[in-house]
Amino acid sequence: MALYSEKVMDHFTNPRNVGKIEDADGIGEVGNAKCGDIMKIYLKIENDVITDVKFNTFGCGSAIASSSMATEMIKGKPLSQALELTNKAVAEALDGLPAHKMHCSVLAEEAIRSAIKDYYDRRGIAYDKSQFPEPHGEEEHNFEED
Ligand code: FES
Repeated sequence: MALYSEKVMDHFTNPRNVGKIEDADGIGEVGNAKCGDIMKIYLKIENDVITDVKFNTFGCGSAIASSSMATEMIKGKPLSQALELTNKAVAEALDGLPAHKMHCSVLAEEAIRSAIKDYYDRRGIAYDKSQFPEPHGEEEHNFEED
């Protein structure tokens, strides 16, 4: 069986939403302590809805495919829904990632969360801090168990 699903290969070779939004309303940048890779997400937000999203990554193929899929999943969605997106849901939408590559999909989830937090901070919008755990907190420890 192939290591990567057709969907992973499709999003890796033809990633959606790559690039930068110059006048972004929120920008999130996170790094993966395990591999040193970096992910940056740009959001355009209107009335609490993500109207546009772009990403740049210095990451592996799985990170590219995960980000491509994750950006497709949050585009046009309210922030509340984007905040609920988990890396597991992204991996499922990609028809799975190899276990040792699951940590790559965490980059996309964390960068989206961080961009939304940046938006709230810029606008002075109050938010529930528990929704924004520090990146690489507990999840980082779980990587070894995946
Ligand atoms: Fe670093 Fe995949 S190995 S993001």
